[in-house]
Amino acid sequence: MKALVLCGGRGTRLRPLTYSLPKQLLPIANRPILAYVFDHLYAAKIKEVGVIVSPESHPAIKEFLGDGTVWDTRIQYLLQEEPLGLAHAVKVARQFLGDDPFVMYLGDNLLQDGVLPLLNLFQSERVDALIMLKRVANPTAFGVAVLDSQGRVGRLIEKPRDPPSDLALVGVYLFSPRIHQVIDTLKPSWRGELEITDAIQELIESGARVKPVIADGWWLDTGKKDDLLSANHIVLETYCLRQLAGTLKDSSVEGNVNIAATATVTSSRITGPGVIGEGVKIENSWLGPFVSIGDGCVIKNSRVEHSVILKNSVVENVFHISQSLIGREVRVRGNPDTHPNLRLLLSDFSEVEF
Ligand code: TTP
Repeated sequence: MKALVLCGGRGTRLRPLTYSLPKQLLPIANRPILAYVFDHLYAAKIKEVGVIVSPESHPAIKEFLGDGTVWDTRIQYLLQEEPLGLAHAVKVARQFLGDDPFVMYLGDNLLQDGVLPLLNLFQSERVDALIMLKRVANPTAFGVAVLDSQGRVGRLIEKPRDPPSDLALVGVYLFSPRIHQVIDTLKPSWRGELEITDAIQELIESGARVKPVIADGWWLDTGKKDDLLSANHIVLETYCLRQLAGTLKDSSVEGNVNIAATATVTSSRITGPGVIGEGVKIENSWLGPFVSIGDGCVIKNSRVEHSVILKNSVVENVFHISQSLIGREVRVRGNPDTHPNLRLLLSDFSEVEF
């Protein structure tokens, strides 16, 4: 069993942040999304991983994952020159995958229960594809599946205008090598991509066995700012423990907050769940709930909640920031006499003063 992790794509919905950082490396609870994906592959004991990268994402993804030894895997980087679709990524990986079955994991998706239970099911049922589905409120944004009366997959439709079902395809799939035969004959869709939904539809029509599994646990697709903030919310709520290693002076901390050893918190209040990274300085501020503050940030005389701030950023004299995603090395400076409520999406090195 091999794995194929997709870290290409355009990331248009998270611009401008994704101009300088691939979205798979955006942090959730201060860890890149991709780290959780690799934790799941490690738990499933998958030793050979192909990572699809674009020319833009390649250097940063490679710098983060290295050769994969941290997760006890061997990584091969596979360059997809253009983001021509999920099935196109499989085509790019054809030589790496050989005749092995594989799990395909979108690098910006997270599954509560990981891939191990799916892998066991795929192997015991000896199917050609195992797809995971989740009921969603907005099926028009996803590939959706229609099941027949016996619970088999009848039809798959990519981003339907008039959705016939609310069962979205989750970004984790297991395939036997039979998928390559259908991808070889696949034509691009109206949006010019080789769609994995079309490939699975072809599999069904060719008589292959495609098993659907409806996910019980959460599934997080972090493609947009608010989705990323929801993912931060859920991951903090699920995994964050109270660990106050940093230095606290005249401050209070409520709930599950993880404060790194070299962080200092002075005359402040922190409401959990939340994580505060290494070297962070918090002064005269109220943070939380649901904040992830990256290493080296400075927060002074400010109120921040429901937000993710990447490393080395400064927030000073800001009355209220919420629902915000702030890049690396950003400066947000306010004026103590004004009282704005800010919602920000700022890319690396931005400066905001008011
Ligand atoms: P998407 O989020 O569907 O596409 P995208 O990354 O281009 O983003 P946007 O729609 O905002 O422009 O991609 C899902 C995952 O698959 C993501 O991790 C990127 C990856 N991907 C590839 O590796 N190659 C591709 O050709 C495409 C379309 C996506």
